[in-house]
Amino acid sequence: MKLTRRIQSIKPSPTLELSAKVGALKAEGKDIIGFAAGEPDFDTPDNIKEAAVIALRQGKTIYTAVSGIPELKDAITAKLKRDNGVSYKREEIIVSCGAKHSLYNIAMTILEEGDDVIIPAPYWVSYIDIVCLTGATPVIVETTKESGFRLSPEQFAAAITPRTRAIFLNYPNNPTGATYTREQLQELARIAVKNEIMIISDEVYEKIIYTPEPHVSIASLGEDVKDFTITVNSLSKTYSMTGWRIGYAAANKKLVSAMTNIQSQSTSNPTSIAQYASVEALNGPQDTIESRRLEFEKRKDYILKRIETIPGVTCDNPDGTFYIFADFSAHYDKKHNGLNIDNSVKMAGFLLEEGNVALVPGIAFGNDSCLRLTFASSIETIKEGLDRINNTLKRLE
Ligand SMILES: Cc1ncc(COP(=O)(O)O)c(C=O)c1O
Repeated sequence: MKLTRRIQSIKPSPTLELSAKVGALKAEGKDIIGFAAGEPDFDTPDNIKEAAVIALRQGKTIYTAVSGIPELKDAITAKLKRDNGVSYKREEIIVSCGAKHSLYNIAMTILEEGDDVIIPAPYWVSYIDIVCLTGATPVIVETTKESGFRLSPEQFAAAITPRTRAIFLNYPNNPTGATYTREQLQELARIAVKNEIMIISDEVYEKIIYTPEPHVSIASLGEDVKDFTITVNSLSKTYSMTGWRIGYAAANKKLVSAMTNIQSQSTSNPTSIAQYASVEALNGPQDTIESRRLEFEKRKDYILKRIETIPGVTCDNPDGTFYIFADFSAHYDKKHNGLNIDNSVKMAGFLLEEGNVALVPGIAFGNDSCLRLTFASSIETIKEGLDRINNTLKRLE
């Protein structure tokens, strides 16, 4: 059977693939410590679940408006005003099946063959493939550990070509945890506006942040910046709702209505009861956000303190998210059973097979020196996983 060029240009999500592999190994009875998951280990708060049950009982089980129920769009506009200081109207919001779906709709709406799209590395795994599906070209700009994995205005300006259509910004960043200050965002925004480049601002980790300064939405920096920004967010990480599949995009009416057309010819509305639950998530009590953030912070401090004691592994303090991006490259000149462990894929394979501990190879995020560890698990699990990493690395010669 002939497959399209389009489908041949993409690969499966490496993080989801690894999670499936870990799941299969566990099902075989292997005792694996997973540092690979991309989701909170907390359950969805009860008030949100209860709202879904009520919606179900009330028979809210039929199609909704393609771009989401009005109540949810109003909850999102209220949230964007309250938390992010940006005013959007109801018709400037589209609710989709997770932020990943929002990003796909955006790419299908604004990108095509011949377009360049700037993606700072390390990047979230799906950006490259989503861009490739449209026929546009990802232009990867590598950021360094020295700059805290932040894109500098100079790097941004130097990457622009006459074909540059958009830039992906993700902060706090998956996998590095890096975020931007208001001043840094102002610089990047100025360049984007001057060159008429759309900013796709992925803010799904905005509430899992450890810096004293609050998260700044780039769209809040002025009307001109807002015109060039598509703000993407999700209920997944903030409310521990990864399985519910609710994300959204906020942008000008023309873009939102074009994205709605794509959604109307593909998935239609996101699940009705998940939308009603999301209204409660956004409008109801918000206290679990802070209590869970504090718990993540405790785990972050623990994992950082412990990782420092593992020889040859270094890691910076992330500004946000529940990931650390640790550099293992000091071990890359070593061997195991005669095999050189000289890149992040081989290191992750070695740790999984020899140490029963699952990490994501950094190359999946565009950086081969590092591996990503999730600290969305209990301190006991983190402790056991780090002990295994430490002991397994000692077997390298
Ligand atoms: C940076 C980033 N953006 C978007 C997503 C997608 O989230 P959702 O569950 O809303 O599709 C993820 C999920 O891991 C992510 O890490």
